[in-house]
Amino acid sequence: MKNVKVGVIGAGRAGMMHIENMLTLNTIELVAVADVLIENVQEKLHEAGIEQTFKDYHELLAVPQIEAVFIFTSTDTHEAICLAAAQAKKHIFCEKPLSMTGQEADSLTVMQSVKENGVRMAIGFNRRLDHQFRTIWEKVEKGEVGEPQIVKITSRDPDLLSHALIQRIGGLIFDFTMHDFDMARYMMHSNVTEVFANGATLIDPTLSEINDIDTLALVLKFENGGFALIDNSRRAVYGYDQRVEVFGSKGMLKAENVSNSTVEHYTSKATLLDKPLPIFNDRYQQAYRQEIIDFVSNLVTGQPFAATPLDVVMAQRVAMAAIASIQTGKAVPVDPKEPIV
Ligand SMILES: NC(=O)c1ccc[n+]([C@@H]2O[C@H](COP(=O)([O-])OP(=O)(O)OC[C@H]3O[C@@H](n4cnc5c(N)ncnc54)[C@H](O)[C@@H]3O)[C@@H](O)[C@H]2O)c1
Repeated sequence: MKNVKVGVIGAGRAGMMHIENMLTLNTIELVAVADVLIENVQEKLHEAGIEQTFKDYHELLAVPQIEAVFIFTSTDTHEAICLAAAQAKKHIFCEKPLSMTGQEADSLTVMQSVKENGVRMAIGFNRRLDHQFRTIWEKVEKGEVGEPQIVKITSRDPDLLSHALIQRIGGLIFDFTMHDFDMARYMMHSNVTEVFANGATLIDPTLSEINDIDTLALVLKFENGGFALIDNSRRAVYGYDQRVEVFGSKGMLKAENVSNSTVEHYTSKATLLDKPLPIFNDRYQQAYRQEIIDFVSNLVTGQPFAATPLDVVMAQRVAMAAIASIQTGKAVPVDPKEPIV
């Protein structure tokens, strides 16, 4: 397959993880990296053979041989960088979400610019590429559980994030539950019409100082009449807890946690299992690698991407409604009609 020349903008926690994956792929040539704090990673990047590094992403966008850019910067920069990338005629892979404010008009402006500039854009909803969740999705698609009626998602982080990181990437709903809003819609094969949410700070009360929560319970209603139940926590003492279930008229599909070992130890007192993998980059290692492989191959072949800006707009709508629901204590309607750009 053609070797695609790419640039990366944002080399923090997520960016460096993706760069390490890219360096192992022979379908990608990583030409340049830009980060406002490039000095933190410059030596490592040069050692890895990436010679062009910039503080200002506009310089990366001006590199003519770069065909596509990966955007892994702080969330509040995504829309501006996507716009600049589209105008520079680069294809785009952007981490979720597109926006930290959920102002849909701004996300639609990005979609419009992508269209006008004749480039393509994918979103990093990596969980769609997890092979277990993908298998569930495919079986739902084939009707193997009949009509999906209830989607159940448990999504719990192993520990609190720093307040500074939350302010860069968004609070629980915009950073973390965003994945679950997308996963629920993806599994249900239907759009959300209503959200009821309740949230609290059961772990770190100081989160209220930055307008965030650490514990969340949600009920979503869908256009097909089905429901999703989602629960989130920022601290599961046993690891990164990621489970998905789809219940339908013909049965149930369920993906349990993934651990390092499948050995079960039975004694007279208890059965011992290994803990779930500890954190997102371990649990979704395969999915993160696959989303990069898929982006590049779908770019070359013209096939659809696993997740698009439309998918993130639909998830952002639900996020905004969930925030309003917590504030009002009431269920909040969500427009299920997809925008046309
Ligand atoms: N899909 C996932 O599972 C997943 C996991 C982690 C993070 N993320 C997303 O990735 C994004 C980054 O998160 P993170 O945890 O790596 O944050 P981070 O703060 O560790 O990294 C962000 C990087 O972007 C750089 N940056 C900020 N503004 C910039 C600009 N204007 N130009 C160039 N560089 C800029 C920062 O210097 C930093 O190095 C967030 O949107 C987050 O939601 C997604």
